Amino acid sequence: MLQYVTTNEGKVREARDYMACEQFDFDYTEIQSDDLGAIAAHGAREAYREADEPILVDDAGLFVDVLDGFPGPYSSYVEDTLGIERVQELVAHEENRRAAFRCVLAYCDGKEFAASPDPVDRDDRALAAAGDEDDESDSGLPVKLFSGTVRGRIVPPRGEGGFGYDPIFEHEGTTMAEMAVDEKNAISHRGRALAKFGEWYHERQAARTE
Ligand code: IMP
Repeated sequence: MLQYVTTNEGKVREARDYMACEQFDFDYTEIQSDDLGAIAAHGAREAYREADEPILVDDAGLFVDVLDGFPGPYSSYVEDTLGIERVQELVAHEENRRAAFRCVLAYCDGKEFAASPDPVDRDDRALAAAGDEDDESDSGLPVKLFSGTVRGRIVPPRGEGGFGYDPIFEHEGTTMAEMAVDEKNAISHRGRALAKFGEWYHERQAARTE
């Protein structure tokens, strides 16, 4: 069974619209990087070594235009420290309150991927950054990446649904916290990434059982 690695039940609720999966409540190491793909790929390798089952890691962030992309990869820390209302207040008096949500899904099942239109992370970046090109512990574990983005704007909090920054992120007049799960999935960063992943994953499953 596919293991969706997260401590966040909201993410799993959204993922189950696309495929069967179990929540794997595993707190992987979040490496310091500006690149959600690198963070998710590292987490997928770590989780795969722990579980030895197909793994999907989801790393997401809110990127506010006028704040040069802040909080971005630090969204979780900023939610826990400042809180979403303070983030909203930071841009409340700005003319430009545009922002984007991005999500990267990283899949690892310990096997290679055949020719693929989507990016495959082979850990070159992490090894180069660590300066340890001979480290065998992670190499040989390819990770396939799927991404999705949604644009919107930051508004005072509205709505009871969703999680995280959903109440302050408005898309076409509705905050994500005012949407049902299927409505959010139809337009969201995660929904877009999950749709790409779901299609690819079901084909991969079918090919392996032929
Ligand atoms: P992470 O991907 O679990 O590290 O999440 C990063 C931060 O973004 C956390 O503060 C989450 O609450 C928030 N977040 C992730 N996905 C969403 C979403 O779909 N809506 C609102 N906030 C989100």
